[in-house]
Amino acid sequence: MLNILKKLFALFAGLTLMFGSVDAEQSGNVKTKKALIVYFSHTGNTKLIAERAQKELAAVNYLVDLHRLEPTKPYPEYGDELRDLAKEETENDNCRPEFEAINVDAQSYDVIFIGTPVWWYKAPKIVLSFLEKQDFSNKKVRFFITHGGGPGALHKRYGNGV
Ligand SMILES: Cc1cc2nc3c(=O)[nH]c(=O)nc-3n(C[C@H](O)[C@H](O)[C@H](O)COP(=O)(O)O)c2cc1C
Repeated sequence: MLNILKKLFALFAGLTLMFGSVDAEQSGNVKTKKALIVYFSHTGNTKLIAERAQKELAAVNYLVDLHRLEPTKPYPEYGDELRDLAKEETENDNCRPEFEAINVDAQSYDVIFIGTPVWWYKAPKIVLSFLEKQDFSNKKVRFFITHGGGPGALHKRYGNGV
C-alpha cells in the first residue's frame, strides 16, 4: 500500500512538471486550446490521476474533454479471475477488447493524454483498441501510467510513472 502511495506521489510530481510545461503555452484567461484525456481504470487509481489532470489543465485555461474507456464486456472484480483473464489478453497479440463508443476525434485537440494502469507489465489491450481507432498524426500525445511497482517496458519507455 505504501509502495502504491509512493508511486502515485511520484506520478503527481510528474504531472505537475508535465502540466507546468503545458501552462507556458497558454496566454491570458481565454480557453483557446483543447485537451483530450482518455483513460482506462479498473480499480480507480488511473481515474484519480486523470481527474486531477483535468483540473490542472482547466486551471491553465484548457478546454478539457475527459473520457473513461468502458469495456463492453465488464472485467471481473479484482482477484484471480481478473489476473488470469488479463494475463491471457496480454499474451494474445490479436486481442482488442471492445469498448463503449466515445465520440472523439484526436485531430481536433491540441494535446492528448492517455492514461493506463499496468497489467502484466504492459498496457491493457483495451487501451490499444482505442489507440488504433484514432489518427494521432502530427499530434502531441502524452501518456501517464499507474502501477504497483513493476511497470515493465512502459516504465522504460515513458520514464518514472509518466
Ligand atoms: C490484472 C492486473 C495486473 C497487474 N499487473 C501489474 C504489473 O505487471 N506491474 C505493476 O506494477 N502493477 C500491476 N498491477 C497493478 C496495477 O497496475 C495498479 O494497481 C494500477 O494502479 C491499477 O490502476 P486502476 O486502479 O486505474 O485500474 C496489476 C493489476 C491488475 C489488476
